[in-house]
Amino acid sequence: MSRIEKLIAAMTLAEKLGQLTMTASGYAVTGPVIAGDSTESIKDGTLGNLLNMVGADHVHEMQRLAVEGSRLGIPLLIGLDIIHGHRTLFPVPLAEVASFDPEAWAVTAREAAMEAAADGLAMTFAPMLDVSRDPRWGRGVEGPGEDPWLGMRLAEAKVRGFQGASLNSPDTLAACAKHFCAYGPVTAGREYAAVDVSERTLHEVHLPPFAAAIASGVAAVMPSFTDLCGIPMTVHVRLLRGWLREKHGFDGVIVSDYNAIGELINHGVAADLVEAATLAMKAGVDIDMMADAYRRGLPTAVERGLVTMAEIDAAVRRVLTLKERLGLFDDPYRRGTTPETPAAITNRRRIARDVAARSIVMLKNDGEALPLPAGLRTIAVTGPLANAPAEMGGPWGAAGNTQEHVSVLAGLRNALPNCDILHAAGVATESTETAEIQPAVELCDRAEAVVLCVGEAANMSGEAASRAGLDLPGQQRIFVEAALARAKELGKKVVVVLFCGRPLVVPWLFDKADAVLAAWFLGSEAGNAIADVLTGRVSPGGRTPIAWPRAVGQIPVFFGERPSGRPANPTDHFTSKYLDIPNDPLFPFGHGLTYGRFTLSNLRVSPDRVTERETIEVHVDVKNEGTRAAQETVFLFTHDRVASVTRPLLELRGFGKITLKPGDTGTVHLRVHATELRFLGVEMTPVFEPGEVEIFVGPSADRTRLLKTSVQLVG
Ligand code: BGC
Repeated sequence: MSRIEKLIAAMTLAEKLGQLTMTASGYAVTGPVIAGDSTESIKDGTLGNLLNMVGADHVHEMQRLAVEGSRLGIPLLIGLDIIHGHRTLFPVPLAEVASFDPEAWAVTAREAAMEAAADGLAMTFAPMLDVSRDPRWGRGVEGPGEDPWLGMRLAEAKVRGFQGASLNSPDTLAACAKHFCAYGPVTAGREYAAVDVSERTLHEVHLPPFAAAIASGVAAVMPSFTDLCGIPMTVHVRLLRGWLREKHGFDGVIVSDYNAIGELINHGVAADLVEAATLAMKAGVDIDMMADAYRRGLPTAVERGLVTMAEIDAAVRRVLTLKERLGLFDDPYRRGTTPETPAAITNRRRIARDVAARSIVMLKNDGEALPLPAGLRTIAVTGPLANAPAEMGGPWGAAGNTQEHVSVLAGLRNALPNCDILHAAGVATESTETAEIQPAVELCDRAEAVVLCVGEAANMSGEAASRAGLDLPGQQRIFVEAALARAKELGKKVVVVLFCGRPLVVPWLFDKADAVLAAWFLGSEAGNAIADVLTGRVSPGGRTPIAWPRAVGQIPVFFGERPSGRPANPTDHFTSKYLDIPNDPLFPFGHGLTYGRFTLSNLRVSPDRVTERETIEVHVDVKNEGTRAAQETVFLFTHDRVASVTRPLLELRGFGKITLKPGDTGTVHLRVHATELRFLGVEMTPVFEPGEVEIFVGPSADRTRLLKTSVQLVG
């Protein structure tokens, strides 16, 4: 008998349910010692998993209670939300996705895993893979943005980074793909609200990133809190047992979201914890995070014959198998034993700065306002986020020490030691106070260039951070308009650095500012990275992974829309359009300027007749007609013109990058395997239909800028 089977045979029901329970340690991030109650539970073997604990000493202290103090000595599984770094913070996921650099996504996950494992942790509740097309929803910041194909690439990179080559190695974390699935389209962008999406949208948009995570060997999956078309995901038998386990062969651990089993009572599918626990267990949820429903409800459920011991054993087996794969049985203290070297930590900061700089999206740059001209003697750096190190970390700051984050002010002072950098906040991110606006605006008079750092506070995106209006919060608009007006009067250029966990709907600002950088929340090295871009040390290369709407009323606006029978036509009243604004977003998916100026030409594909087994090779020439070296990103989209089921107007199939010196030309080579052009037919099974497929290549999803050709699919 294997170690695991022997243990299961020796366990009491209470001990089994302990392995299926995960409780917050009470440390949160740096808080008090674990609650006495949990300490006792660990010792008596009725608590097998913890979350929210930081520090190798504390982790080992708890581990010792389990391993040396409990009857069966089963080690604890201890996890934390390591979403974009642990102590060193990298850009928030949406920002990092903007770098369109899967290698970087993997590297930051690897670094985060090493840092967290050195702190004793063995699991992260990441990556978040919910496709989000609604910027009102605050959690879009944690994930891949609007596109499923991109979500798949993010899933692969993050799982590879967190889990490394083998979970057994002491510098890895078990990853947890969340939130399964379709959390993004919550009703009206309102957090925790119900979701109602079609079966087709579910399979075409929301499930593919999870399929990619499973194919990459993700250790765990977390169902979302939400109700999907009448069935809360925590009890969704068809998707958890059917799609995840049976169809995709996922044999890892399913861990509920925080108190999600208890919330089944509010959802109205369970009358009490016994029913809630029964439903979740039946659906295949192995670990109950924070509801204590399994420990309190399952004994009665077993007594009543609602749940069998075999079902409980299967869940326990999966949890113990994960602990075994993590090497915890062989050496429960393997993580957190070897402190990191100062060189590793310094190198991590370097990576954080590099990835942060490449995650910045230059949305506008009129009259080459950026980079700032060399030799400036005075710059005004104002706004509530100019000198706000703690805000730079953004939501899900994990164990990051906010005092160690670099503000824009500090970053610019580091970069330009000979420049006089004037500063005043002007306003707070959210307040009604306006008294300090005027003195801050007056700094424009004394400066040669003006940098306004405005946007959302870090906690305005992330969980429970839906917003109905997406303008600058508080009195910031008054401040920005006053500063823009003053600078204009004085003939000075204004650069806006916009901090946000989502696209902000500020058309008035884009209209008037000379340059705008989307700086999202870039993590520990934010200020240095922003200074790198402002001063021209780095050419901005980020591209927005989600469209920036012109108006909240346009939401959701995304490139993968299906065609209308009456496509917009300005001269035809009865076509699909608004009376008051254009249909397209202000900035489409993929938009982002650089310090180069690129033109694309000579798009060619081969072969032009393609069978299902072949690969389409796509080449396009790129020329840098600007005056600075820079990296360009090009996107490849397809559109199936006539099919048995309507196909999205554009489907992302790839992207490529090329760095070119001024005047240089190069070629970007992209490929699409023809099997990717399959889609779910009328019967919802994959079909490969002969016919014409349009191939588009360009710098964003802006249809007017895409080069186009086509291939013929043949049976
Ligand atoms: C969030 C999850 C997170 C969990 C544990 C929940 O509120 O929805 O994303 O992993 O808490 O912190």
